[in-house]
Amino acid sequence: MFENRESPGERDRLAPDVASDRSDGHIDVNSRHSAENGRPTDQVEGEKGGTQYGSGQNEDPFHWSLTQGTTVGRALISAAQRLGETSSEAARLDAQVLLAHVLKQSRSWLFAHHEFELSNEDCRRYADMITRRRRREPVAYLLGRKEFYGLEFAVDQRVLIPRPETELLVDLVLAQISDRRGRPVVVADVGTGSGAIAITVAVHAPEAKVYGIDISQDALDVAEENRKRLTPEAGPLLLEGDLLDPLPEPADVIVANLPYIADEEYSGLQSDVRDYEPRVALKAGVEGLDLIERLLEQLPTKVQPRGAVLLEISPRQGEIVQKMAQELRPKPSYVGLRRDYSGQVRMVTLEF
Ligand SMILES: C[S@@+](CC[C@H](N)C(=O)[O-])C[C@H]1O[C@@H](n2cnc3c(N)ncnc32)[C@H](O)[C@@H]1O
Repeated sequence: MFENRESPGERDRLAPDVASDRSDGHIDVNSRHSAENGRPTDQVEGEKGGTQYGSGQNEDPFHWSLTQGTTVGRALISAAQRLGETSSEAARLDAQVLLAHVLKQSRSWLFAHHEFELSNEDCRRYADMITRRRRREPVAYLLGRKEFYGLEFAVDQRVLIPRPETELLVDLVLAQISDRRGRPVVVADVGTGSGAIAITVAVHAPEAKVYGIDISQDALDVAEENRKRLTPEAGPLLLEGDLLDPLPEPADVIVANLPYIADEEYSGLQSDVRDYEPRVALKAGVEGLDLIERLLEQLPTKVQPRGAVLLEISPRQGEIVQKMAQELRPKPSYVGLRRDYSGQVRMVTLEF
């Protein structure tokens, strides 16, 4: 997908969210499964007897191994076997996170209740989740949620799953707001998706006026759901449209995590990403720079004097985006690159 496919930072952004509660962002970094060749084969025949699930409709043998009365301990071993090697930490973690979700318990509860017996309905729901995960559906979509900056965001296939490294963008926006020492601040989050950046900023800086813009109405529907739950009093104003076009006033801080995958990189993405996350959230033309380039062109009329612009980029795009920013007129007073917490060049910062 990228000219540097092994870049850990790139994989961080694009790697599957194997388990929702893994907070370091280093997820399944070497797997790059495809739907065809990454799927483990079933090695264990299903248990016999009891009520069986999935027959007829779904031939996945895993369904046959879950029967009413299966214990938590047995279900975890069986599910982990079907998700990967038994020794695979990722498979075990996925199995635990998904069973905890089905039983509406914590992972630590599972460890203390290995002998607890699953009901018919538990078995059916767990088998369904494991089957979907075997097809590489991201755990965050299976759970319907993803933690970002300590907040829980609803996510589904209409939005990109927020990545841990994007939390740095939020840190930078909040630093910009606090530098303005109580003066009114207008913030625009372009390509807001689930609303992760805009809503988090609104939660942590309620004095700021925040806009969240997206071209996808589907994404904005998810963002609105998150806005109502996380910032019921006010929160960001969500606007549909292309880049900064819908912004009704110049902003003091413009933040954007726009798509940056080049056309030819797209087919090489992990199937977890390519087959499940929205294409409109990932692809950005031949070089992956179409949207960032157009956003830069819009800045002169959309950013306040002394305003700041914070862009998330692919590590390979740092120098070229920096050069594009330096050629803007009026010229920014500062253009710099920032590394993320894993040491990858990840952000371009402009100040006017
Ligand atoms: C990489 S996702 C980022 C989502 C979210 N900000 C995050 O960090 O998790 C990019 C988002 O940009 C949106 N987008 C794509 N093209 C756009 C455009 N021309 N104008 C506005 N938004 C766009 C997509 O719909 C998607 O929600």
